[in-house]
Amino acid sequence: MNRTVSKIVNATETMEGEGFLVHRPFPTNALNFFDPFLLLDEMGPMELAPGEAKGAPDHPHRGFETVTYLLEGSFEHKDSQGNAGRLHPGDVQWMTAGAGVVHSEMPEKEFARAGGKLHGFQLWVNLPKKDKMMPPRYQDVPASKMPSATKSGARVRVIAGESLGAKAAVDTRTPIMYLHFTLDKGASVSQPVPPGYNVFAYVVEGEGAFGGKEARRGQMVMFGTEGDAVEIKAKTALSVLLIGGVPLNEPVARYGPFVMNTREEVHQAIEDYRAGKMGSIAAST
Ligand code: CO
Repeated sequence: MNRTVSKIVNATETMEGEGFLVHRPFPTNALNFFDPFLLLDEMGPMELAPGEAKGAPDHPHRGFETVTYLLEGSFEHKDSQGNAGRLHPGDVQWMTAGAGVVHSEMPEKEFARAGGKLHGFQLWVNLPKKDKMMPPRYQDVPASKMPSATKSGARVRVIAGESLGAKAAVDTRTPIMYLHFTLDKGASVSQPVPPGYNVFAYVVEGEGAFGGKEARRGQMVMFGTEGDAVEIKAKTALSVLLIGGVPLNEPVARYGPFVMNTREEVHQAIEDYRAGKMGSIAAST
């Protein structure tokens, strides 16, 4: 049985910092999180003039994972563990902040200088209570190593989980599915969904029917929990993220870049950050 749609919401459009366009289906006033997911930000799509690209300088995270998936543009990151790397179109960085990292996410210098199109996503995946203080770790999947599959006008890139016979390269702490489908006009796909998963789709480009309901670019489609598959039909050429996971069903206490189970743990995170216990980028280089 196919899952039916429980709700369709529009992403809010905001300008972050000094002119960084973000489309955000959640968190919003209406939807704080979608267990086990805490945030989805679509960066752009936007055309950046030379010298205009902005990023996120040194900032901490604790208690969850950030998954960055770039479609266009180029980013570089550095962190308090001494890690550094670059993200190009099609690359994924799955960062488990765990007990805490301080990192920077900036446009790559040459991209910032020349300008160009920026488009990508950052998903925040909550960690279960038992893993919130685990040592930080990175899983980088370059575009060339991304598991993918094609079937009758449907292509999928498998960032987490399994689809059309392809299996993800990353290891997740709890069961997660993160798929990027691109469908030709008129193509359709039926994606099996394990029982117990909370599932949503985010339409990146075009228009489609999701379990019979139509949604278009910039909309988040939330599915009900009954059923073992999600059906997507492309009304136009369609690009869509299909994301799901087993809900943690644990209390969420969030304050900016810290997501814990209680207010006390959040206060502790702020104190630990201020005391330098999450390290600093300067100290690591
Ligand atoms: Co960050």
